[in-house]
Amino acid sequence: MVDQAYTAEQALTYEEDTEHTLPREEAEAWIAIIHAMGLPTEARIVDYGAGTGTLMAALKGAGYPVLSLEPSNHMVAEGLRLHPELGVNDFIVGTDMSPDPQGGGGFDLIVSRQVLCHLKRPDLVFKQLHQWLRPNGWVLLVDGFWTGFSADQKQVFPLAGIKDATLAAEALAAAGFDIARAEAFHELNQARAAVCPGGVSRYVIVGRKSLSALG
Ligand SMILES: C[S@@+](CC[C@H](N)C(=O)[O-])C[C@H]1O[C@@H](n2cnc3c(N)ncnc32)[C@H](O)[C@@H]1O
Repeated sequence: MVDQAYTAEQALTYEEDTEHTLPREEAEAWIAIIHAMGLPTEARIVDYGAGTGTLMAALKGAGYPVLSLEPSNHMVAEGLRLHPELGVNDFIVGTDMSPDPQGGGGFDLIVSRQVLCHLKRPDLVFKQLHQWLRPNGWVLLVDGFWTGFSADQKQVFPLAGIKDATLAAEALAAAGFDIARAEAFHELNQARAAVCPGGVSRYVIVGRKSLSALG
């Protein structure tokens, strides 16, 4: 189930929008939170809904190996053009309801940036992410408090237009995650404000695959 895979037209201008670009200052906030998880250097990390691979490029630059899942082949093609350090093998085109992106279900961490607002059934996606993780594996989800979604869109995409992180955190908990953090992503918002003033605030949800959960 791919809810809103980006079109060729959206891909072409994607990184020109300041809400999409990922400045170094934002990357540092992501890296700090991942570093605090104490993952091994050979950690297996997935970027879910990676788009053009901006986050993957930043994490790879910091030494973290990342595999990106992205439903839009247009976004992947644009990512390969914009980020020469990324290769075709860094992406899997298709994503979300495939049985397992790389076999084994043993990923250490799944990150996702600005994708939750595009999901029609976040409950199903969260269950899928849960299956892909090793026991005690982490999920790190970041999205914005967007104001541009219409009432009709908010009916279809339950996490579009949310005003705090509660609903997303509850859906993640229902999928079997222990919630470690769910709030405005203060350090990232501060970092972005310094370089992209006037932008939309982001929230962060950090969850851990509960050992007691089924699945
Ligand atoms: C706003 S972009 C974010 C891209 C990237 N994560 C970033 O931070 O630049 C949303 C992305 O989610 C993808 N997408 C849409 N529906 C999806 C789904 N059900 N599962 C995974 N990705 C999805 C779109 O194709 C698009 O690339």
